[in-house]
Amino acid sequence: MSVESFVRDVPKAELHLHIEGTLEPELMFELSGRNEVSLPYPDVDAVRRAYVFDNLQSFLDIYYAGCAVLVTEQDFYDLTSAYLRLAAGQGVRHAEIFFDPQTHTERGVSFETVVTGIHRALEDGRASVGISSRLIMCFLRHLSAEAAMETLEQAGPFVSWISAVGLDSSESGNPPSKFEAVYRQAREMGLLAVAHAGEEGPPSYIWEALDLLGVRRIDHGVRCLEDDRLVARLASEQVPLTVCPLSNVKLRVFPSLREHNLPLLLDRGLLVTINSDDPPYFGGYVEENFRGVVETFGLGVGDVAQLARNSFVASFLDDSAKARHLATIDAALAAEG
Ligand code: HPA
Ligand code: ZN
Repeated sequence: MSVESFVRDVPKAELHLHIEGTLEPELMFELSGRNEVSLPYPDVDAVRRAYVFDNLQSFLDIYYAGCAVLVTEQDFYDLTSAYLRLAAGQGVRHAEIFFDPQTHTERGVSFETVVTGIHRALEDGRASVGISSRLIMCFLRHLSAEAAMETLEQAGPFVSWISAVGLDSSESGNPPSKFEAVYRQAREMGLLAVAHAGEEGPPSYIWEALDLLGVRRIDHGVRCLEDDRLVARLASEQVPLTVCPLSNVKLRVFPSLREHNLPLLLDRGLLVTINSDDPPYFGGYVEENFRGVVETFGLGVGDVAQLARNSFVASFLDDSAKARHLATIDAALAAEG
């Protein structure tokens, strides 16, 4: 089998995926018509042409604007179902999905509408396309800690549908320490914790996420290499990094894929996973992210199998489910000879 087919078919877990960031321009226009919400673009091609970014903030401005078309429970259901169908065709067998309730509650869409639509699609997806899933509720870090605490309270009645809390949006100037009390409360509610850190922000934000927020994974984390002591900690504790190569290039964290630090992260013994972040905005889903790094760095099936294994090891699945997926990956690799 070619490395390209192996990339597509090998079982993978996607651990860094913003469900609102999977909104394809076609669905954006369909929902804009359905909900009579106007868009600042004449057509689908104009939307795609707008996807040129200078940094994280220039992307976030466009991403939040696109979210305005998401209004009803059915919209969130359709959005999530479309992602699951596409991901299933790329070998994704498990997905741990972020959602941003504040992006919607701030516009008058209720927490219940958002979470019910996404949850129902995840439940249906388990049966229809065979993808197991977890839901991660993110706080928007450019908003206040009080607003995050209110969001956590709104999540109370739905906590059995939510596995973890996360932290996203504008990183610079919004350190993890701002959310220490919110995360403490979330952990007391039985939720696990992750956080975006070290995408644009400094290594100190990764330390804070570990020590003050009690995170189990770091989302992005690519700037960890600027701090040797931090790398040693991440390696010895095998704290997963959910790396998003195409996102990093589109948001100019690295000038090109060739200059991405993925090979260095792997050389340092870090538990790296490959993910897509906001696929239509950044030019690809998980398969395209794998293909990008395979082609750029000349990876073989053994390297791809290792990255696929890492994705399950780093997941919130229980040990028996992890073992099942790892055995399938090992069998696929053995079949390669
Ligand atoms: N970084 C921070 N916030 C985000 C991202 C991201 O890549 N995508 C959606 N919200
Ligand atoms: Zn992200």
